[in-house]
Amino acid sequence: MRFLDSLALFLLALSVDASRISRTGYVVHEKRDIIPTAWTRTRRLESEAVLPMRFGLQQQNIHRLEEILMDVSHPESPNYGKHWTPAQLAETFSARRESIEAVKTWLEGEGISADRMRLSPSRGWIDFNATVDEIESILQAEYHVFKHEDTGKEHVACDSYSVPHHVKEHIDLIIPTLHFDAKINAVAPKRMAKRDSVPVEGAARNVGKPGVGLNPTTTGKVSKILGQLENCDSQITPDCLRALYEVVYKQVATEKNSYGIVEYTTQAFLGSDLGEFSLLLSKHSNETNTLPSLVGKRPKFVATVNQSFNFNGESDLDLEYGMALAAPLKVTLYQAGDIPEGASFNNLLDALDASYCTFEGGDDPTQDGIYPDPLPGGFTGPESCGIVKPANIISTSYASDEADLTPFYAIRQCNEYGKLGIMGTTILYSSGDHGVAGNSGVCLNPNGTQSIGGTRFNPLFPAVCPFVTAVGATQVNPNSTVFEPESASEQVIFSGGGFSNVFKRPSYQDAAVEGFLTNHPPPFTSTQFNTSGSRGFPDISANGVNYVVAVDGEFSLVFGTSCSSPVLGAILTLINDARLAIGKSPIGFINPTIYSEFFKGALNDITSGGNQGTPGFTAASGWDPVTGLGTPNFPKLLARWLLLP
Ligand SMILES: *[C@@H]1O[C@H](CO)[C@@H](O)[C@H](O)[C@H]1NC(C)=O
Ligand SMILES: *[C@@H]1O[C@H](CO)[C@@H](O)[C@H](O)[C@H]1NC(C)=O
Ligand SMILES: *[C@@H]1O[C@H](CO)[C@@H](O)[C@H](O)[C@H]1NC(C)=O
Ligand SMILES: *[C@@H]1O[C@H](CO)[C@@H](O)[C@H](O)[C@H]1NC(C)=O
Ligand SMILES: *[C@@H]1O[C@H](CO)[C@@H](O)[C@H](O)[C@H]1NC(C)=O
Ligand SMILES: *[C@@H]1O[C@H](CO)[C@@H](O)[C@H](O)[C@H]1NC(C)=O
Repeated sequence: MRFLDSLALFLLALSVDASRISRTGYVVHEKRDIIPTAWTRTRRLESEAVLPMRFGLQQQNIHRLEEILMDVSHPESPNYGKHWTPAQLAETFSARRESIEAVKTWLEGEGISADRMRLSPSRGWIDFNATVDEIESILQAEYHVFKHEDTGKEHVACDSYSVPHHVKEHIDLIIPTLHFDAKINAVAPKRMAKRDSVPVEGAARNVGKPGVGLNPTTTGKVSKILGQLENCDSQITPDCLRALYEVVYKQVATEKNSYGIVEYTTQAFLGSDLGEFSLLLSKHSNETNTLPSLVGKRPKFVATVNQSFNFNGESDLDLEYGMALAAPLKVTLYQAGDIPEGASFNNLLDALDASYCTFEGGDDPTQDGIYPDPLPGGFTGPESCGIVKPANIISTSYASDEADLTPFYAIRQCNEYGKLGIMGTTILYSSGDHGVAGNSGVCLNPNGTQSIGGTRFNPLFPAVCPFVTAVGATQVNPNSTVFEPESASEQVIFSGGGFSNVFKRPSYQDAAVEGFLTNHPPPFTSTQFNTSGSRGFPDISANGVNYVVAVDGEFSLVFGTSCSSPVLGAILTLINDARLAIGKSPIGFINPTIYSEFFKGALNDITSGGNQGTPGFTAASGWDPVTGLGTPNFPKLLARWLLLP
C-alpha cells in the first residue's frame, strides 16, 4: 500500500514535469478527466514498447453530412428517396489532399520518415508504428497501462494529447489515445462483472464493448405457453405483436428486399432454438410461416460455446422475432467477431463500408478485433472490409454508455451511421433497459464518474446519435388486451431515454422536444440532464415485455428494448416491401419522416407509464424521452409511406 502510494506520487511528479516542457504552438486535441468505471491506472507504459498509431484525417464536407442526409430523407425534400451510391459518398467525404500533406509533413518533421507511414485506400487514415518514446514526444502525451478490476484485462491509454495548432483542423482523432471503446473480449470461465446487476457469465469485456449492457433480462422459464391473444398481457408472441400493431400484409418483393440483424460474439444463436420456436408458432398460431433459413446452423467461427441465457438469449430473441415477423423474407445475420477476439461497432462498420476501413486489416488492436486472428479457435479469414452490402434495415440491440466514449470517437462513428442513411439504410438501435441510467443501472456523478446512485442521467450510445433511430420499450398493461393502449415498460425493465451530453438536437425533432419540455416540464434541472438543446431519445418504441423466447431448449420470458428493435425492424421491412414492389426506394433514414407533420397520427402515442427505474421521465402526449413518438400503427404508416415519392 505504502509502495503504491509512493509510486503514485512519483507518477504525479512526472506528469507535472511533462506539462512544463509542453511545446509552444501545440493545442490539446482530446482530453479525458475521468478513467472509465472499473479501470485502474497501473503503471507507465515502457518507453520502448511499440504502438500501432492511426491518425484519422478530417473528412472533407463532413459539416454538410446532416444537410445531405436530410436532402434524401426529409419527406418535403424534392430529393426524398434518391439515395447515394458508395462511390458518390467516398468522393464527397474523403480527406482533402491538403490535410494528408499537412499531417505527413508534421510527422516527418518529428522524425517519422515517409516510408514508415501508410495512407489507407479510403484516404481517411495515416498509419505507422512508433515507440512510446516517439509518440509521447509527438503528441505531448503520457501512456499508461490500465487494468480492468473484474477481468484483469489490460488496456493502454493516455489522458490527453496535443497537436500543433496548424494541423488541428486536419485531424479528426488519433488512436490509440484516450479511447476505451473496445471489442468484446475473450471468454473467461467465471461468473463476474461486479457492475452488472445481473451476473454475466463468461465474457471478460472492456468498457464500451457492444455487448455489455443490453443483455435482455429473463424472469425464468415459462411453464405453460398460453398462445392466445387474450394472454398477451402475460406472454407476448408474434401473433400478439401483429394484433397490437395491426400488421396484416403479404410480401411481394422479397427478391429485392433485405433485413439485417447484428450480433456481437460471444453472443450467438442456437439453431435448435430457432427450430423449437418454429414449432411453437405452428402449434399455437394461425401463422403457417416457420423459420427456415438459419435452423440447425451456427456461424462458422462461433463454433462451440457454452449454452446459457447469457450466451444465446440476445441472439435467439432477436432472430426468432425478427425472422418470424419478416418471414418469408430471409433475414441476414451479421455476426461480428469470433470467440477469442470479439469485435467492436467499428469492425461491423468496416464490413459495411469500405471507405470506413483501415488499411490491410490495420484496425487498432487495442480497440478493434483484428483478423485473421492467430489465437486458438480464431477466425482465419481476412478482415472484412466493404464485403457486405448493407441491408435496407439493420437492427442492433447492443450499446455503450455515451460517457465511456470520447466525443470525437462517438461523433466519428455517428457520422458513419449518417453515411449509411445517405445510402438508404435504416439503422435501428435499442435505447437501453435502465431508463435514464446507463448500462447496468449506473448514473453519472458530478465529477464525471459513474456509479449506482449517481445523480446525473447517463444516456446510451449509439441511441443518442441523431443519425440512428432509437427504439424504446412498451408493455401491454396487466389485465389489458392488445386492443387497449400500451404503456411505457414498467415491468422488469425501463425504457432507455433522455438527452445526450454530446450531440446537439437535430432540427427534425426541434418541435417535438420543445413541445415536451414546454407542455410537460420534467421535475429536473441541468444537474440531471443536458437542457441546452441536445438530442433527445428514443424516437419510437415497440413492445418489450414478457416475450416468449426459445433459449437453450426451453421457453423463457424475456424483457428489454432488445425485443423492441428487431420487431420494429421487421415491421418497417414490410413497408419497404410495399415500396420496392412499386419501384420506389427503401425508406432509409426514417427520423425526419416520422417526426414530420404528414406522419402525425400514424404512430400510437403512448401517454402513460415512465422510465423511473431511478428517478426519470414520465410518458406524455406527443414525443417524450421514454417512448419517443409512440408505437407503429402499420396500416397508417404504410399508407403514408406509399404516398411519399
Ligand atoms: C506495424 O507493425 C506490425 C507488426 O510488426 C506490422 O504487421 C504492420 O504492418 C506495421 N504497420 C505499419 C503501418 O508499418
Ligand atoms: C464452458 O464451461 C466450462 C465449465 O464450466 C468452462 O470450463 C469453459 O471455460 C466454458 N467455456 C466457455 C467458452 O465459456
Ligand atoms: C386463429 O383463428 C381462429 C379462427 O379464425 C381465431 O378464433 C383464433 O383467435 C386465432 N388464433 C390466434 C392465436 O390468432
Ligand atoms: C467522484 O464522485 C464519486 C461520488 O461523489 C466518488 O465516490 C468518487 O470517489 C469520485 N471520484 C473521483 C475520481 O473523484
Ligand atoms: C388482474 O386481475 C387479477 C385477477 O382478476 C387480479 O388479482 C389482479 O390484481 C389484477 N391486476 C391488476 C394490475 O389490475
Ligand atoms: C450539452 O449538450 C451540448 C450539445 O448539445 C454540449 O455542447 C454541451 O457540452 C453539453 N453540456 C453538458 C454539461 O454536458
